[in-house]
Amino acid sequence: MDLYVRLGIICISRLSNVSRLEHDMADMKYTPLGNTGVDASVLALGAMTFGAKDTWKLGGLNQDVVDKMVSRAIDAGINLFDTADVYDEGESEKTLGKALQPYRDRILIATKVRGKSGPGINEIGLSRHHIRQAVRQSLERLGTRWVDLYQFHSWDAHVPLDESIEAMQDLVEEGLVNYPGVSNFTAWQMATVQARVEERGFSRYETAQMNYSLLNRDAEHEILPFLNYSKMSLLVWSPLHGGVLSGKYSKDSKPPGTRAGNRGLFFPFFDEKTGFDIVDRVKQVGKEQDATPAQVALSWLLSKGHIVLVGAKTMEQFEENLGALDVNLSSDQIGKLDELTRHRVQYPNWMIERQSSGRTFPVSEPAWTRKN
Ligand SMILES: NC(=O)c1ccc[n+]([C@@H]2O[C@H](COP(=O)([O-])OP(=O)(O)OC[C@H]3O[C@@H](n4cnc5c(N)ncnc54)[C@H](OP(=O)(O)O)[C@@H]3O)[C@@H](O)[C@H]2O)c1
Repeated sequence: MDLYVRLGIICISRLSNVSRLEHDMADMKYTPLGNTGVDASVLALGAMTFGAKDTWKLGGLNQDVVDKMVSRAIDAGINLFDTADVYDEGESEKTLGKALQPYRDRILIATKVRGKSGPGINEIGLSRHHIRQAVRQSLERLGTRWVDLYQFHSWDAHVPLDESIEAMQDLVEEGLVNYPGVSNFTAWQMATVQARVEERGFSRYETAQMNYSLLNRDAEHEILPFLNYSKMSLLVWSPLHGGVLSGKYSKDSKPPGTRAGNRGLFFPFFDEKTGFDIVDRVKQVGKEQDATPAQVALSWLLSKGHIVLVGAKTMEQFEENLGALDVNLSSDQIGKLDELTRHRVQYPNWMIERQSSGRTFPVSEPAWTRKN
């Protein structure tokens, strides 16, 4: 990183009272992407705020800011970038692709298909027709010959599963997609996909992109055990729960200029009756750690070993969020946050746990990690 950028970061640090800044590749950690031979940075950059049309009022970042954010991400060692065909009607892919041109061979691009991409009745979903149309358009907007990770954006009950997985397999065989992945699938849907692709000799699905945060731990009931079992990676979306875990909202206030203020609602949803008590606890841990609430929330996720898709609307937010890499929560702090946010164990899991008591391995541990 050159001297002027470093000085700039130090100034931002003073102005925003963020103590943990200045990250470079040496600080970044990497983890295998699913059961593949490639490694991804544990913090990845999400591009949902990219694109000046700002269709969903999420960010509206123009090419200039996108270039700066991507270049900073590369400096910090980030090598995984996530977008979707539907983000800002394709503008996210366009700006991200342009910014990534100088780095194409050393980074991984993830995008998604399923959302409505045009006025035609068939310009939606996971049909062969739409997947082939969508991938062509994504590759063109991204300015690349291949996508590293191509994700079904959610299950499509309208289309026979075999049609979707055959279309994905063709893309892999044509060299347009390196690895398939899913997003917003239930555990039984993922299990069905993995069983069917194995049966047909197709490529495995390596990742699942899901919402998971201190305000929503639903994924722990069925999804995380399945991901462990099938050696898939979790890519966490909306790790700050749309910004709520940064601590800037309260029960009665959605300040103007913020995401929830601009959109008039909190998304992803959470229990607003209990959620702000969790945010208060996150703020308290931040004080103990000399870290911001956003850094604590991201650090908690990193402590669980997942890949976290960081989102930001400004360079200052991005710098702050990169600072999560330096926050080392104590086991006591993690334990208290766990306890405060843990959900009730759902049936039949508590029955399985009960019937497994006395065995030599914890029931939640997948078979492939058991020591003989
Ligand atoms: N697969 C899916 O269905 C799905 C869905 C959603 C997202 N995603 C992926 O996940 C990525 C991240 O999602 P997300 O953008 O919702 O992440 P997030 O971290 O939960 O929210 C990011 C937003 O929070 C605010 N923020 C971020 N850092 C902040 C900080 N330090 N202090 C104060 N405010 C801060 C900013 O909004 P404001 O400043 O405007 O308030 C920012 O745009 C996306 O880019 C996308 O790649 C996937």
